Amino acid sequence: MLAVSDMPTGKNPTPDADAAASKPLIELSHVGVTFPTKRGDPVVAVEDFNLNIAREEIVSLVGPSGCGKSTVLRMLAGLLKPTSGDVWIGGDPNLRGFSEVAIVFQRATLLPWLTILKNVLYPVRVLKGRVGAEDIARAHDLLALVGLDDMAERMPHELSGGMQQRAAIARSLILDAKILLMDEPFGALDALTREDLQLDLLDIHARTKKTILLVTHSINEAVLLSDRVAVMSARPGRLQDLIEIDIPKPRSHESAALPAFIEYSQRIRDDIFGPRGHRKAVS
Ligand SMILES: Nc1ncnc2c1ncn2[C@@H]1O[C@H](COP(=O)(O)OP(=O)(O)OP(=O)(O)O)[C@@H](O)[C@H]1O
Ligand SMILES: [Mg+2]
Repeated sequence: MLAVSDMPTGKNPTPDADAAASKPLIELSHVGVTFPTKRGDPVVAVEDFNLNIAREEIVSLVGPSGCGKSTVLRMLAGLLKPTSGDVWIGGDPNLRGFSEVAIVFQRATLLPWLTILKNVLYPVRVLKGRVGAEDIARAHDLLALVGLDDMAERMPHELSGGMQQRAAIARSLILDAKILLMDEPFGALDALTREDLQLDLLDIHARTKKTILLVTHSINEAVLLSDRVAVMSARPGRLQDLIEIDIPKPRSHESAALPAFIEYSQRIRDDIFGPRGHRKAVS
């Protein structure tokens, strides 16, 4: 298999390229992560976790707090090595595909002393040491993509929370990494801004064809945005259920009224909380 960075991008792919393109872009195979602790037993955060993600797919990772969702993302970002099992990106077990990964966190984490444009360009400056005219043009295109074209010269504190998160998404796209990892990217936003950004993400995906792994605590968000939803069990996190979301595209918030949408949401809720009849009554 080829590493992501080695993959041919021409219009006449060879049979080898076809074969590589049909392989999953991300493969997590029997992955375990155990954290040592200063006092007490080690924490087994993830155990025998298996998940493959195809190119251009949007997969959501849902599960109870502490089940290892962020741990899985950190492994894919190359920030953490698995204790056992294999993490492959683009067919490469050594995470050479690392530069093919961008990450968006719950908070925008923009640098407060740089303009929005310079924040978006920051990864280019770090990686290449200099910013060229073509980078600046691309940053403007990305700001337009996230609806911030007139905010390029503003400072982060002049933007609302939703706008800052849009800028963070533009920054995550500047290096054109094939994989976008998002850890509760809309978790800090109000409900209306969140709904707006969910649709923006679908639009960005339709235009850029990124492979997206999204961690969310919102079951509705997972169903609305995903091709598949991976449900993790409580710690140690394992893959408890993997659900293909067969809802027509393009999707909108009206999709949530479809019977299939309601059934998928219910199935995920049952996976996490147990079947309805077995749930504890909450007063
Ligand atoms: N560096 C670390 N050292 C020790 N334990 C850790 C470390 N990082 C995570 N853990 C533990 O691993 C488990 C999984 O953590 P993780 O952050 O992946 O959960 P999560 O599913 O993202 O939770 P949440 O939904 O609350 O964000 C937790 O029990 C956490 O306390
Ligand atoms: Mg987390």
